[in-house]
Amino acid sequence: MAKMTVKDLDLKDKKVLVRVDFNVPVKDGVITDDTRIKAALPTINYILEQGGKAILFSHLGRVKTEEDKAGKSLKPVAERLSELLGKNVTFVPETRGSELEAAIADMKDGDVVVFENTRFEDIDGKKESGNDAELGKYWASLGDVFVNDAFGTAHRAHASNVGIASTGIPTVAGFLMEKEIKFIGEAVEEPKRPMIAILGGAKVSDKIGVIKNLIPKADKILIGGGMTYTFYKAKGMEIGNSLVEADKVELAKELIEAAGDKLVLPVDSITAAEFSNDVPTEEHTGDVPAGQMGLDIGPESIALFAQTLKGAKTVVWNGPMGVFEMSNFANGTIGVCEAIANLTDATTIIGGGDSAAAAEQLGFADKFTHISTGGGASLELLEGKELPGLAAINNK
Ligand code: 3PG
Repeated sequence: MAKMTVKDLDLKDKKVLVRVDFNVPVKDGVITDDTRIKAALPTINYILEQGGKAILFSHLGRVKTEEDKAGKSLKPVAERLSELLGKNVTFVPETRGSELEAAIADMKDGDVVVFENTRFEDIDGKKESGNDAELGKYWASLGDVFVNDAFGTAHRAHASNVGIASTGIPTVAGFLMEKEIKFIGEAVEEPKRPMIAILGGAKVSDKIGVIKNLIPKADKILIGGGMTYTFYKAKGMEIGNSLVEADKVELAKELIEAAGDKLVLPVDSITAAEFSNDVPTEEHTGDVPAGQMGLDIGPESIALFAQTLKGAKTVVWNGPMGVFEMSNFANGTIGVCEAIANLTDATTIIGGGDSAAAAEQLGFADKFTHISTGGGASLELLEGKELPGLAAINNK
């Protein structure tokens, strides 16, 4: 069902509530990656160009106690946003109350207010993450319309997305939300073929839902990363000291059975005796011997994956192929990035989190059609689940 977007509203003179996902990494008060702030700019700029007043809010980190608040203020985010927009942004250090209400009352068309971390409301009884109705109603009362551009939070039913929307205030998607849903949704539901999914990361338990959903939809599913060894175990292979989820071995057998030749496992591994970049590495085809742990896919697997990817028209990737943060175990992830970069006329999408960080860090970010800003949200979309934040947006 197509959703209404910010383009469907008249924003002139309107107080526009905007839920963004500004959950960015902050170290000692410094933002170390502002991708999510930049990704929200098209929506914010559009609202301002249309003569609206933009009231922005987001969560940042997880906040359960008063102590958790340290380092989780949105103030540095508001400052960075001000630099990126090239205009003044008023930061209000509270989530409700007279200062916030006065700041909003003072706004003129084209003004921007950012208020404090919505999860500061969680200290006193999980009001934000428990989708407290009174809180959603209060926030909705601060504006005329609601734009939800927080794709990264769309898998959460919180007061700042679902709660506000449930009050009946006109609720539309921002451009980022629209773009994410279009790319990931189309890649899974109506892909240009062949469609190849690449799934990596440490744990098979994180990807079960995705693998199950993609078996009937993908033409091939390439498996890499630590979860390889739970599949190896399921095939009766030796895995040495590699990571394994013993309680998922049976399930891995079922997935191998259900996927048939769609599932492509690595054929070799780069191993080491310790989880460290400072010990010698070994290369092993098939079984991993005792005393060694698999930390990356090997050269034969890279070649196999590159060969399988040839001619792909849609590629969806979630989860690195190895411990790419350590140079000894980065080649698998680099190899897959290179194979994807060589594709012509393909839509290539990376889910957020580790895999997006890998593409950025390894210098391949501009080779992808779309890098999702959502971690959990993009995974749940790949699992075929309904995202509550998205479901709460008005249909066209
Ligand atoms: C994310 O980073 O995936 C989103 O901002 C959601 O954050 P959360 O997992 O703390 O709800």
